Amino acid sequence: MEVKIKPVEKIEGQTRMPGDKSISHRALLFSSLTENTVEIEGLLQAEDTLATRNCLSELGVEFEDNGVKVMVKGKGLRGLEEPGNILDAGNSGTTARLLTGLLAGQPFYTTVTGDHSLRIRPMKRITEPLQQMGALISGRRDNEHLPLSIRGYDLLPVNYALPVASAQVKSSLLAAALYSHGVSEIIDPYNTRDHTERMLSYLGADIKKMGRHHIIMKSPSRLEGEIIRIPGDISSAAFFIVAAVLAPRGELQIEGVGINPSRTGIIDVLRVMGADIQVINEREYNNEPVGDLLVRGGGNLKGIEIGSEMIPRLIDEIPVITVAALFAEGETVIKGASELRVKESDRIQTVSRELQKMGASIQEMPDGLVIRGGDKLNGARCSSHGDHRLAMALATAAMFAENESVINGSEAADNSFPHFFETMNGLAS
Ligand code: S3P
Repeated sequence: MEVKIKPVEKIEGQTRMPGDKSISHRALLFSSLTENTVEIEGLLQAEDTLATRNCLSELGVEFEDNGVKVMVKGKGLRGLEEPGNILDAGNSGTTARLLTGLLAGQPFYTTVTGDHSLRIRPMKRITEPLQQMGALISGRRDNEHLPLSIRGYDLLPVNYALPVASAQVKSSLLAAALYSHGVSEIIDPYNTRDHTERMLSYLGADIKKMGRHHIIMKSPSRLEGEIIRIPGDISSAAFFIVAAVLAPRGELQIEGVGINPSRTGIIDVLRVMGADIQVINEREYNNEPVGDLLVRGGGNLKGIEIGSEMIPRLIDEIPVITVAALFAEGETVIKGASELRVKESDRIQTVSRELQKMGASIQEMPDGLVIRGGDKLNGARCSSHGDHRLAMALATAAMFAENESVINGSEAADNSFPHFFETMNGLAS
């Protein structure tokens, strides 16, 4: 599918974002392990989270959906059943990695696969530590690639320092550690998103953070919860925030967005660049901080240097931060972001090559990008490469280019944000 995007002048109004994707996956997975029925409000209903839900259905979990809330009938920690078929994670790395961790603790055989893009993404980062915990896992290319076949067992506790900045790896190990009879310790030197820790604690697990980097969890005997309320996704809001900042006129309010500090790098960076973004009405939903965002357009941005320390706090927003940098004065340098090469597409390559089609001046580096701001962009025909965040970042750039652009493969946006283009159209003029 393709969409045509015309230049805009103003972003104005009030909106809400679909539920946070990371928290939605965790809500589905961990509610399934509770002793009761959990009511999830604001669940993201998109391709990626549907993949998690379908895999859980194959494992015997029942869901009821009334269009507003999704009820998950928890099966307890030991209640999942051996599926009759292969589990398909689709395009979703979070589904594949977190689910594999969970399956590592189940006393039955499963196979997990995914779409073409997911089948070439690295998995040894989870298979190695899960094998150390005692799970039998094998996969293609020396256990690096899906499909993975898993025969789980009662596991040993894990004591592991993350060698890559990955919340998916951390969460996969925590999911396995639920089945480990003992105390697991994970060192996260990068402070990656901590939604798993917050949700497991909300569901009654004894999980603590010691200092900034050290997570300690005692394997629980049961999990319990009643209601999980999911905030709007700051990674989805990022496209609207950047669009509102770049628009010559207008003010946008985005209500009920998750503002977990491990995810708010986009706000910090845009503010340093000169953007006018306010966070108001701060509150909390089941251990997760939430706020409303007020973003004003018409300002001037300046280039910035973004280094390794900041990267985990904005890793998914780099495509759209690159777009903001194209309209800033001076150079923006993004370093220490080689993980971008193993996302839904090689985002260092796809982001730079697709934006170059609009005339952007971007240099690809092995671990980042150098972006020269201030050159005019010209509408072009671009491709999403099947990557949702690229589709939406290109659309954001196209709104501030001269003349019309066409984005091929625009349906990729549905992985995390169904109705993205309609929502944007409703606010832009
Ligand atoms: C996610 C973690 C990040 C992020 C992804 C979602 C999660 O991936 O890029 O979109 O929900 O845990 P990595 O763990 O590979 O960094």
